[in-house]
Amino acid sequence: MTPRTAVVWAALRPEIEHRESLLVLDVGGGTGGFAVPLAEAGHRVTVVDASPDALAALTRRAADAGVADRIIAVQGDGDRLAELAAPASADLILCHSLLEVVDDPAEVNRAAAVLSRAMSGHLDVAAAALADPDGRTGPADKLRRRFDADGAAALLRSAGLTVEAIHGVRVLADLLPGAVADVDPEALVAFELAAADRPPFRDIATQLHLYARKPW
Ligand SMILES: C[S@@+](CC[C@H](N)C(=O)[O-])C[C@H]1O[C@@H](n2cnc3c(N)ncnc32)[C@H](O)[C@@H]1O
Repeated sequence: MTPRTAVVWAALRPEIEHRESLLVLDVGGGTGGFAVPLAEAGHRVTVVDASPDALAALTRRAADAGVADRIIAVQGDGDRLAELAAPASADLILCHSLLEVVDDPAEVNRAAAVLSRAMSGHLDVAAAALADPDGRTGPADKLRRRFDADGAAALLRSAGLTVEAIHGVRVLADLLPGAVADVDPEALVAFELAAADRPPFRDIATQLHLYARKPW
């Protein structure tokens, strides 16, 4: 369990445990880091991803884990989700590490990007990310945008969802020197779990994880 996966699973676990065979849609699910364990827990997962290579790796991984019959891989753009899958009938929709790369979103955390650039001595880059409306460091930035907690929550609310939880993912994990982080990985995961939902720690994490529900 890495600091990232520990916090994300802690947020998801209350929704999936004690529930059988949920229909899960994993948008931008990639190679199945979440889909395969969910299928192993008995749920049925459709992964929609733009990358054929990622889906090929997902298919191999699902076969190796013996859950190929519970995973459907669909190649396509998340923008066309309604044509590619059936989002309305899904019990749970995952969308991890995708919003920051798509054309028109609407989770990489802006505060963390500014902090990490500043701490590595690149104050000019940090200042650029601070000033840019999308939180980008400049034209060469590979990400299209960075969110803060308020901005990401506003996006989900504007889609008619009720935001129930916001967690910071990797509060310290990416700031600590490797030699320090490696001394006691379990203590680091424990810290991450404890800090994930507490501002201001939540707000400086590398990523934000939002859990939202469609009102009945
Ligand atoms: C950083 S990976 C995240 C994978 C996985 N969700 C996770 O959290 O481990 C982003 C994934 O989004 C996919 N992706 C990027 N743009 C996409 C789009 N427009 N529609 C669907 N998938 C997309 C990429 O192919 C990649 O597999």
